[in-house]
Amino acid sequence: MQFSSKGDIFDKLRPFIQRYEIGESFLQHPNYYGLYYDIGMKMKPRGILEIGVRFGYSALSMILGCEGKTNFIGIDAEMYNPGSNSVATESIKSVIKGTCSIDNINTAHIKSINLSHEFKPDIIHVDACHTELGMIHDLNLVLPHMNDHTALIVDDMNHPGHQGLGAACDEFARENGLSVDTYDSLTGTKVLTK
Ligand SMILES: C[S@@+](CC[C@H](N)C(=O)[O-])C[C@H]1O[C@@H](n2cnc3c(N)ncnc32)[C@H](O)[C@@H]1O
Repeated sequence: MQFSSKGDIFDKLRPFIQRYEIGESFLQHPNYYGLYYDIGMKMKPRGILEIGVRFGYSALSMILGCEGKTNFIGIDAEMYNPGSNSVATESIKSVIKGTCSIDNINTAHIKSINLSHEFKPDIIHVDACHTELGMIHDLNLVLPHMNDHTALIVDDMNHPGHQGLGAACDEFARENGLSVDTYDSLTGTKVLTK
């Protein structure tokens, strides 16, 4: 499945954006959150698993894309903004029709993620630790939870401040027999599928 950016996401995200970020260009970039919105719209996920939630902008974009008809599990250690998990939870709960939980866990300290059998993560988003080792660790954590339909989204693949992530992600995909679609978004996004 191919995705494209849908430009009307910013007006939908606006009520959830933290005041001090209103002027930030990444929020309004024509090819950033619109891509997540389109992925949510086209995938119609039964569940979304996200490592790296912060204030929930990417999560909200995907959830708004599928009109809230999904369940959400997030993991975030609040390294950027203390208290961000509560803000994200409140925002997501106001639009989601299913369940929402966000756990404050540093993924560097865990070897696996336990999910209930009922939770079907048709979208997984990895956007947390931006070192190569950290990203690969997170990809290995989510790999067992991919089903035949899952879109595994990985962000910041050509971010100038995090060089090498895109190549490391391609290598991970090759080693695990996953297909890769690369999108020329704000800082590069890859979507891995079985
Ligand atoms: C780039 S922000 C996520 C942005 C969010 N996906 C969005 O687009 O709105 C990265 C987040 O990952 C979290 N993070 C970074 N390293 C982490 C780790 N090892 N374990 C858990 N969370 C981590 C940070 O606390 C931060 O909130």
